[in-house]
Amino acid sequence: MKLLVINGPNINMLGIREKNIYGSQTYESLLRFIRQVCQENGVEVECFQSNHEGAIVDAIQAAYQKFDGIVINPAAYTHTSVAILDALKAVSLPAVEVHLSNIYEREPFRHVSYAGMACVRSFYGHGFEGYRLAILHLKELLGQ
Ligand code: DQA
Repeated sequence: MKLLVINGPNINMLGIREKNIYGSQTYESLLRFIRQVCQENGVEVECFQSNHEGAIVDAIQAAYQKFDGIVINPAAYTHTSVAILDALKAVSLPAVEVHLSNIYEREPFRHVSYAGMACVRSFYGHGFEGYRLAILHLKELLGQ
């Protein structure tokens, strides 16, 4: 089983940006966490981060017939990007949405998730743990 983990804009700034919301751990430590979870569970993983909407669309398209599932934190594009929603629908790979923070307890503009409309499950407000929950959910869903 091979998963693609996609992180959107400013996730590379973890550890620097709004620590009161996102914590003090860096993006590098998030990558280590994800790789560790995948290793423990016999899951192959590739991680991708971009600050550019089109690059994320390209990564989703390139996942077609290459990956079994997608874990995605589209970050700010969650709330704006019909293009990412359409790309997820186009490849129709099982996708799970993750947010470090609880978007439903924040500003009203964060309460809408376009990407979430193409996802089988969403985890929000669990910090890094949300990625573990997403990976395990896909593992169970894919029966592996
Ligand atoms: C986020 C929540 C988004 O609203 C925000 O724009 C982010 C990060 C999260 O992980 O909590 O950049 O996706």
